[in-house]
Amino acid sequence: MIRLKPREKVRIDFNRRLYLAPLTTVGNLPFRRVCKDFGCEITCGKMALTTSLLQGQISEFALIRRHPSETIFGVQLCGSFVDTMTRTVQMLEENFDYDFIDINAACPIDLVYKKGAGCALTRRTVDFERICRSISCLSTRPITLKLRTGIMTGENNAHEIVSLAKSWKSEHDGNHIIDLFTLHGRSKEMRYSKNADWNYIDECAKAADPIPLYGVGDIYSFEDYYQRLNDTSVSGCMIARGALIKPWLFTEIKEQRTWDISASERFDMLKSYANYGLEHWGSDNAGVDKTRRFLLEWISFLYRYVPVGLLERLPHRLNERPPYFFGRNDLETLMSSKLCSDWVKLTELLLGKVSPEFQFLPKHKASAYG
Ligand SMILES: Cc1cc2nc3c(=O)[nH]c(=O)nc-3n(C[C@H](O)[C@H](O)[C@H](O)COP(=O)(O)O)c2cc1C
Repeated sequence: MIRLKPREKVRIDFNRRLYLAPLTTVGNLPFRRVCKDFGCEITCGKMALTTSLLQGQISEFALIRRHPSETIFGVQLCGSFVDTMTRTVQMLEENFDYDFIDINAACPIDLVYKKGAGCALTRRTVDFERICRSISCLSTRPITLKLRTGIMTGENNAHEIVSLAKSWKSEHDGNHIIDLFTLHGRSKEMRYSKNADWNYIDECAKAADPIPLYGVGDIYSFEDYYQRLNDTSVSGCMIARGALIKPWLFTEIKEQRTWDISASERFDMLKSYANYGLEHWGSDNAGVDKTRRFLLEWISFLYRYVPVGLLERLPHRLNERPPYFFGRNDLETLMSSKLCSDWVKLTELLLGKVSPEFQFLPKHKASAYG
């Protein structure tokens, strides 16, 4: 039997922090920097596949790069085997700079699910426990778990998973193996078709106690945030699409106000992104192209923002589709256009003209109205 040396674990205070959710494609380093500028406190890299990391795929390593401004930064791992997950964590532990590891037990994508990873981990509880224990033996940094309410709608089992994971304790120091749960209040089957179930999130937060649990789902205003935080037992809230559509939501929450941000302030935000992108991906042709494509992916969410100064009533809901409207100036109108060609025009104001052959189709269906 191999005896591992007990290691001292770094602890993170996860209480009531503003947490930007991991976001495939769009949650890249330049976007996370923008969110940090607006007051976000915890950031997490996009889901990285353990098999790709172990194969040394450079693009996968880009997902775990942190910017110095990211003060609490996590790496999210997606895998299904004890050996690959453990070897990946060993490699990260020895070579990379991050503050915590997030295990993805929430991803609904069929390709991932069929391999037993993502939310399928919650169906393979024996292997799931082995993965968490094994990682915990190696890691000097906290381990967090991202979960969904369940696989099928009407068959919620997150409360059972949370109770089970709470029972996993370290053989070295008797501490819990999992340091934080984050729970997206929808099942795999639901995707984004219904609102997140915050009553159930509350039930799971109670089952998790004393391990902190963050709720995830549909937070789009400071009112939503404080209502969820104060009316349930969660230790915090994680924000995904709300931050994609209006990253200044973090400032609104901190300052407890609605910010009627102007189009030129929003354009300055795009300018910052373009600068961060060129710094991150390079300012040669390939870097400009990457910055433009990722900016376009982000704009495919951003255009959904409706300026609060135009609304009849507040707060605006994430899934409400507004009627067609004109902005208070041309830039505001351009920024709310649903035409890809207008999004490209916006990038041209920042990154120069595209070639006549340039084409773009957004990757995420979640950017469309439900
Ligand atoms: C574009 C996009 C990419 C996402 N990528 C990930 C991911 O890589 N890992 C993950 O755990 N969740 C991912 N999610 C799910 C979010 O983290 C979050 O759980 C979900 O969107 C619910 O929060 P919301 O209602 O605030 O959007 C993604 C969501 C979106 C919209």
